[in-house]
Amino acid sequence: MRSGIPGAVTKKLFIKTYGCQMNVYDSERMAEALGGQGYVETTTPDDADMILLNTCHIREKAAEKVYSELGRYKGLKAAKPDLKIGVAGCVAQAEGAEIMRRQPMVDLVVGPQSYHRLPELEAKAGQGGKALDTDFPAEDKFDHLARRPKAARGPTAFLTVQEGCDKFCAFCVVPYTRGAEVSRPVDRVLGEARDLVERGVREITLLGQNVNAYHGADGDGEAGLADLIWKLAEIDGLARIRFTTSHPNDMGDALIEAHGSCDKLMPYLHLPVQAGSDKVLKAMNRKHTAEEYLRVIERLRAARPDILLSGDFIVGFPGETEADFQATLALVEAVGYGQAYSFKYSTRPGTPAAERAQVDEAEKDDRLQRLQALLTRQQRAAQDAMVGREVSVLFEKPGRIAGQMGGKSEYLHAVHVHAPDVARGEIRRVKITESAANSLCGTLA
Ligand code: 5AD
Ligand code: SF4
Repeated sequence: MRSGIPGAVTKKLFIKTYGCQMNVYDSERMAEALGGQGYVETTTPDDADMILLNTCHIREKAAEKVYSELGRYKGLKAAKPDLKIGVAGCVAQAEGAEIMRRQPMVDLVVGPQSYHRLPELEAKAGQGGKALDTDFPAEDKFDHLARRPKAARGPTAFLTVQEGCDKFCAFCVVPYTRGAEVSRPVDRVLGEARDLVERGVREITLLGQNVNAYHGADGDGEAGLADLIWKLAEIDGLARIRFTTSHPNDMGDALIEAHGSCDKLMPYLHLPVQAGSDKVLKAMNRKHTAEEYLRVIERLRAARPDILLSGDFIVGFPGETEADFQATLALVEAVGYGQAYSFKYSTRPGTPAAERAQVDEAEKDDRLQRLQALLTRQQRAAQDAMVGREVSVLFEKPGRIAGQMGGKSEYLHAVHVHAPDVARGEIRRVKITESAANSLCGTLA
């Protein structure tokens, strides 16, 4: 919990965050922006003066989830009419004023590109008005969303460097909710990273919907993601760099090379492919074939043989036949993933694929089960293969057992170690002794 501004009246802010890591980052920034209005965060809606839902629209039922969550706050609002209720994030962007029509107790609706206007919107809502902002303003919100300096941080942090997407995959709402691709200038990113490191952060995950398409202004020129990583690597005290999410078509030579030669860049890459059939990839508007994806993986592994790969998959995309699905299974077999996320295709209003003939739901369920069985086997094998190896662990927090500390290896595996003398934020070599369901155990080397 953060402390309030001295002398100001403190009000309590409860933020509930759904969806991706960028929403986690955005929620932090909104809390900081509202900190200037005297808000401090609380972990329960019950004593809040303001409730903010930071929503996700990527898959079905997102909007319904938001409405049912709002329904739960009816009693709170009745008991405390001054309570402000806001909806932020991608559902806010997609639904806009419709949210206030369906749930009149909502005081403010703010889309992801307008978070810097939150203090104004909050003030407007405070005067009994309704506030709505789902613009894509010309000014850069990040310039107006100053970080509250010097508040202590945990050892890991997210840092948004790129936002939005111009790729228009046929299933995806992101280009509509987050808008066009924008990269933050290099000096702003470095400034924010230095500030995070001064506040105790040792690992930064660079975020962007298409983070490897990053092309930020750098003096008179432009920097790509690899350039940015090399500059970040010069920051003393910053030990680890990660980035997510990437598109196969933007996996350029410099970035692949950085995976081979930049010690601070962790050997882990989330590189979604979505499907293994070229026909489906084309229908998805992915603009690459399965073979091209496999070539990227080959180049990455040549640069960094131990890199752990993660992916996203969609089953039951319109037009996907059993043979197409078999091609997805074959691609998964060919790659060998250490981590993966798989979903049934869900229609998103306004996206091209929503209008197409849909695959039978039972068929989707069956394919998802078969795919997940294979991916789980691969994940488990990758985790089990760590037993007997030595890894580096960045310790983040005490474990459940006395004297135990938990952290992440360079491959993003959760690792638990009996290490009563190790502090949060320390990086230590650990010999892995055991692979459990979702984590590894080891001893300090
Ligand atoms: N249906 C199912 N999965 C989707 N994703 C994005 N849109 C959809 C959709 N309409 C998945 C993709 C993407 C991940 C973030 O969510 O796999 O990579
Ligand atoms: Fe969505 Fe495709 Fe853009 Fe990723 S690359 S955010 S899946 S449109």
